[in-house]
Amino acid sequence: AAERADLREKIKRLLKERNAVLVAHYYTDPEIQALAEETGGCVSDSLEMARFGRDHPASTLVVAGVKFMGETAKILSPEKQVFMPTLEATCSLDIGCPIEEFSAFCDQHPDRTVVVYANTSAAVKARADWVVTSSIALDVVDHLDSEGQKILWAPDKHLGDYVRRETGADVLLWDGACIVHEEFKAQGILDLKKVYPDAAVLVHPESPESVVAIADMVGSTTQIINAARDLPNKQMIIATDQGIFYKLQQLVPDKEFIIAPTAGSGATCRSCANCPWMAMNALDNLAYVLEHGGNEVHVDPALGVQAMIPLTRMLDFAA
Ligand code: 13P
Ligand code: SF4
Repeated sequence: AAERADLREKIKRLLKERNAVLVAHYYTDPEIQALAEETGGCVSDSLEMARFGRDHPASTLVVAGVKFMGETAKILSPEKQVFMPTLEATCSLDIGCPIEEFSAFCDQHPDRTVVVYANTSAAVKARADWVVTSSIALDVVDHLDSEGQKILWAPDKHLGDYVRRETGADVLLWDGACIVHEEFKAQGILDLKKVYPDAAVLVHPESPESVVAIADMVGSTTQIINAARDLPNKQMIIATDQGIFYKLQQLVPDKEFIIAPTAGSGATCRSCANCPWMAMNALDNLAYVLEHGGNEVHVDPALGVQAMIPLTRMLDFAA
């Protein structure tokens, strides 16, 4: 414990010395989230992480999350140095949408407006008309639909299909999924509801349609936290990564949070619903990059210029 306290103090000192700010996602280790809060950084969903990094005056951003979050920060702030505790932390959605195949798919459907989820590579974003995160996907597609535009959506088929059902827009889907959210099981949640009949079910829209169908609320990580605070229920069944429990318990201490069951899990599973890539961010690799450098995020400058266009469109729309 003393060693960890030393490590935390070292990280705080190095952040100051390097004029660096820590930008962390809700799914990262609670110790990292706490450090971001204590040092004037940000803990948030992917939309707010992008905005915060772009608008913060620090010359260096340290992004604790997965690769697309570091790349987004770099694209939006090419003049800043962006580091990550590890460059190995990717995302199944990013992996499942390689640029060559995606670009060919777009070429086959030139009449469609290309909307991609933020969980994609810089090259895929550069090919897109719009980038969205889960917190504004519905609003953006609703807006495009009202203008009569047909959509090509990638990569998350569950989120894309949710958006299609909600907006009624003409949406053509890429076949990608999040390996964490795809595992949530509607039957498991219904069984859990028998034990907690008054619990509200809060679901991230990367989850399958059957899970979304029994949700009391569907939304991004930030929207889930806000709903947990605002809904009257004293118990909440949460279908998203367990990392979010740190913030939920901090902001809504008087309520009980129960993780939604996943494939192969019992109702009290503690290790399921944990993104393996988010979990690669730790205090020691965070301290290491601050001390020794390395793990700097680089984005091809030409791609960065192209990808900045739909990313800026997203942030302007959200503003
Ligand atoms: P949010 O934008 O809701 O934080 O989601 C990011 C993510 O990777 C969800 O799995
Ligand atoms: Fe990607 Fe899913 Fe991990 Fe989020 S939880 S980073 S969508 S694999």
